[in-house]
Amino acid sequence: MCGIVAYTGKQSAREVLIDGLKRLEYRGYDSSGIAILNSPPYWVRTVGKVAELEQRVWKDAPSGVVGIAHTRWATHGKPSENNAHPHIDCTGKIFLAHNGIIENHLLLRKQLSASGHTFRSETDTEVLVHLIESLYKGDLEAAVRKALLRVQGTFGLAVLHAAHPGQIIVARRGSPIVLGIGEDESFAASDASALARHTNQVVYLEDNEVARLEPGRFSITTLENRAVSRDATTLEVGPEAMERGSYPHFMLKEIFEQPEAVENALRGRVNHSEGVARLGGLESVQDRLQEARHLIIVSCGTSYYAGLFARYAFETLTDLAVETELASEFRYRKLNLRQNTVVLAISQSGETADTLAALREAKRKGALVLGLVNVVGSTIARETHAGVYSHAGIEVGVASTKSFVTQITILTLMALLMGRTRDISYEEGATILRGLERLPDQIREILKQSDAIRELARKYCNYSHFLYIGRKYQYPIALEGALKLKEIAYIHAEGYAAGEMKHGPIALIDPAFPTLAIVPEDGSYEKITSNIQEIRARDGRIIAVTTSGNTKLGTLVDDVIEVPHNHELLMPILTVVPLQLFAYHCAVLRGCDVDKPRNLAKSVTVE
Ligand code: AGP
Repeated sequence: MCGIVAYTGKQSAREVLIDGLKRLEYRGYDSSGIAILNSPPYWVRTVGKVAELEQRVWKDAPSGVVGIAHTRWATHGKPSENNAHPHIDCTGKIFLAHNGIIENHLLLRKQLSASGHTFRSETDTEVLVHLIESLYKGDLEAAVRKALLRVQGTFGLAVLHAAHPGQIIVARRGSPIVLGIGEDESFAASDASALARHTNQVVYLEDNEVARLEPGRFSITTLENRAVSRDATTLEVGPEAMERGSYPHFMLKEIFEQPEAVENALRGRVNHSEGVARLGGLESVQDRLQEARHLIIVSCGTSYYAGLFARYAFETLTDLAVETELASEFRYRKLNLRQNTVVLAISQSGETADTLAALREAKRKGALVLGLVNVVGSTIARETHAGVYSHAGIEVGVASTKSFVTQITILTLMALLMGRTRDISYEEGATILRGLERLPDQIREILKQSDAIRELARKYCNYSHFLYIGRKYQYPIALEGALKLKEIAYIHAEGYAAGEMKHGPIALIDPAFPTLAIVPEDGSYEKITSNIQEIRARDGRIIAVTTSGNTKLGTLVDDVIEVPHNHELLMPILTVVPLQLFAYHCAVLRGCDVDKPRNLAKSVTVE
């Protein structure tokens, strides 16, 4: 949830580090800090966005060529200068930036305090820098290795020592670190997007590995000091993927990228002649998939709602028994994981701690664990037995948009793949594939309504509460639409299965509590129309998202957003788009920071 960037080379470190931090800021943004090796070392931390740090750095930072920097999302200790990273040891020579959580920090802090170390922050991280100081005997890398052997918890970290100019030590366990190798310069970051501008030669550290970086070269060992040989790989994304271009916000850019994202998600995966999906990442486990009887989907937030959609999709297209579970609750359930159980972890970032913990638990119990992940090479992608990438491209906005749309596209393909080896006919398979291929142009049609949806948002953005309702395939979309409004516009919104409304939430309905009803003309249209009537009878205001040309709603609703027709299983991929736009425009009109909503972070690496 925090971001690290480190540099050693020939350029001015402050430029490289501040640029890197800005690219990582979407991961966490309540405070930040920088250390540059100079004589004396330069060390500054500020509260707030990276812009605050940048101002300080331009004013007084020296132009040293080695440094580390960090952007924080507070876990232990509130956002403050003292709690911001890098942290410093008692001698003022060692600087350390850390992502993750040190679980035994209280014990270590007690021991280190007893031996005379002075702590300046409330963070768990600070014990690391003092522990390294206490173990340092002239070899920084050895001290870091020894310290990490005494640590329980997770870390992605970068360490500098004033006595070792030019050298940066980085390490990882459970929190990503990627090295970037250039000509006479080396980089490290928690996310390759911070490096893409400088080099496309990257090396991903594995858990329990330590790397020593020097200008233009690196070496890797395990925590136990066994040498590791690993070549650099070429980064596939270019730096432009991290640019906003002419869009005012990344979220809007990413909403508008959805037609291409769906095209990319489908590319090479549609087999018309067989009426089936082709997913190369699942070929190695085809036999076990064939034997599968039980599917459990684990994920969080928006990815959880994609999982809820998948429950309907798999139940429609296969004979599997399907459960969707919040990853954070998975460990509390006594699920009967058998040989023929498949667990599917869905995650945009591939780093979500709860999802990772759930998949490790499922592996421990012998299930086949699959992943549907966006970030290539991420921890979840590497720890699952097999999986599929969603190919949404880098998503910077904290609110998931294109990753959700690609997730539900690919989940449909996965269900189709498994369904076609069971009881789905060629004709049914081919119909779904044709429908999938119509989606990009249909999304383009919906995006043309962005201005009209902004006007609708103007009419509704000052309401304090919203109800979102949908049935069957549209129920997860009601949940997702409500989450979007909550997280970026800070408007309280409840997503409900429309049929549940009369079991409680209807008590809330009055003219000040509008409802957004998702009512495409599908198999549950009549039933949800009755729910709309119940709301109308209580003077509730209603915005309906329905299929083009549906005039039957008439005066039953106040406002209508139309989306094109497609197969009813695929309609969620269309109906979610106006809900994203509605939330986006409400947030902008309310003056919210759309790409960096308060208290949130893009990748949630704490449980
Ligand atoms: C969605 O807009 C949120 N930012 C959040 O709910 C997110 O989907 C959740 O944290 C899961 O993240 P993941 O997909 O990276 O695992």
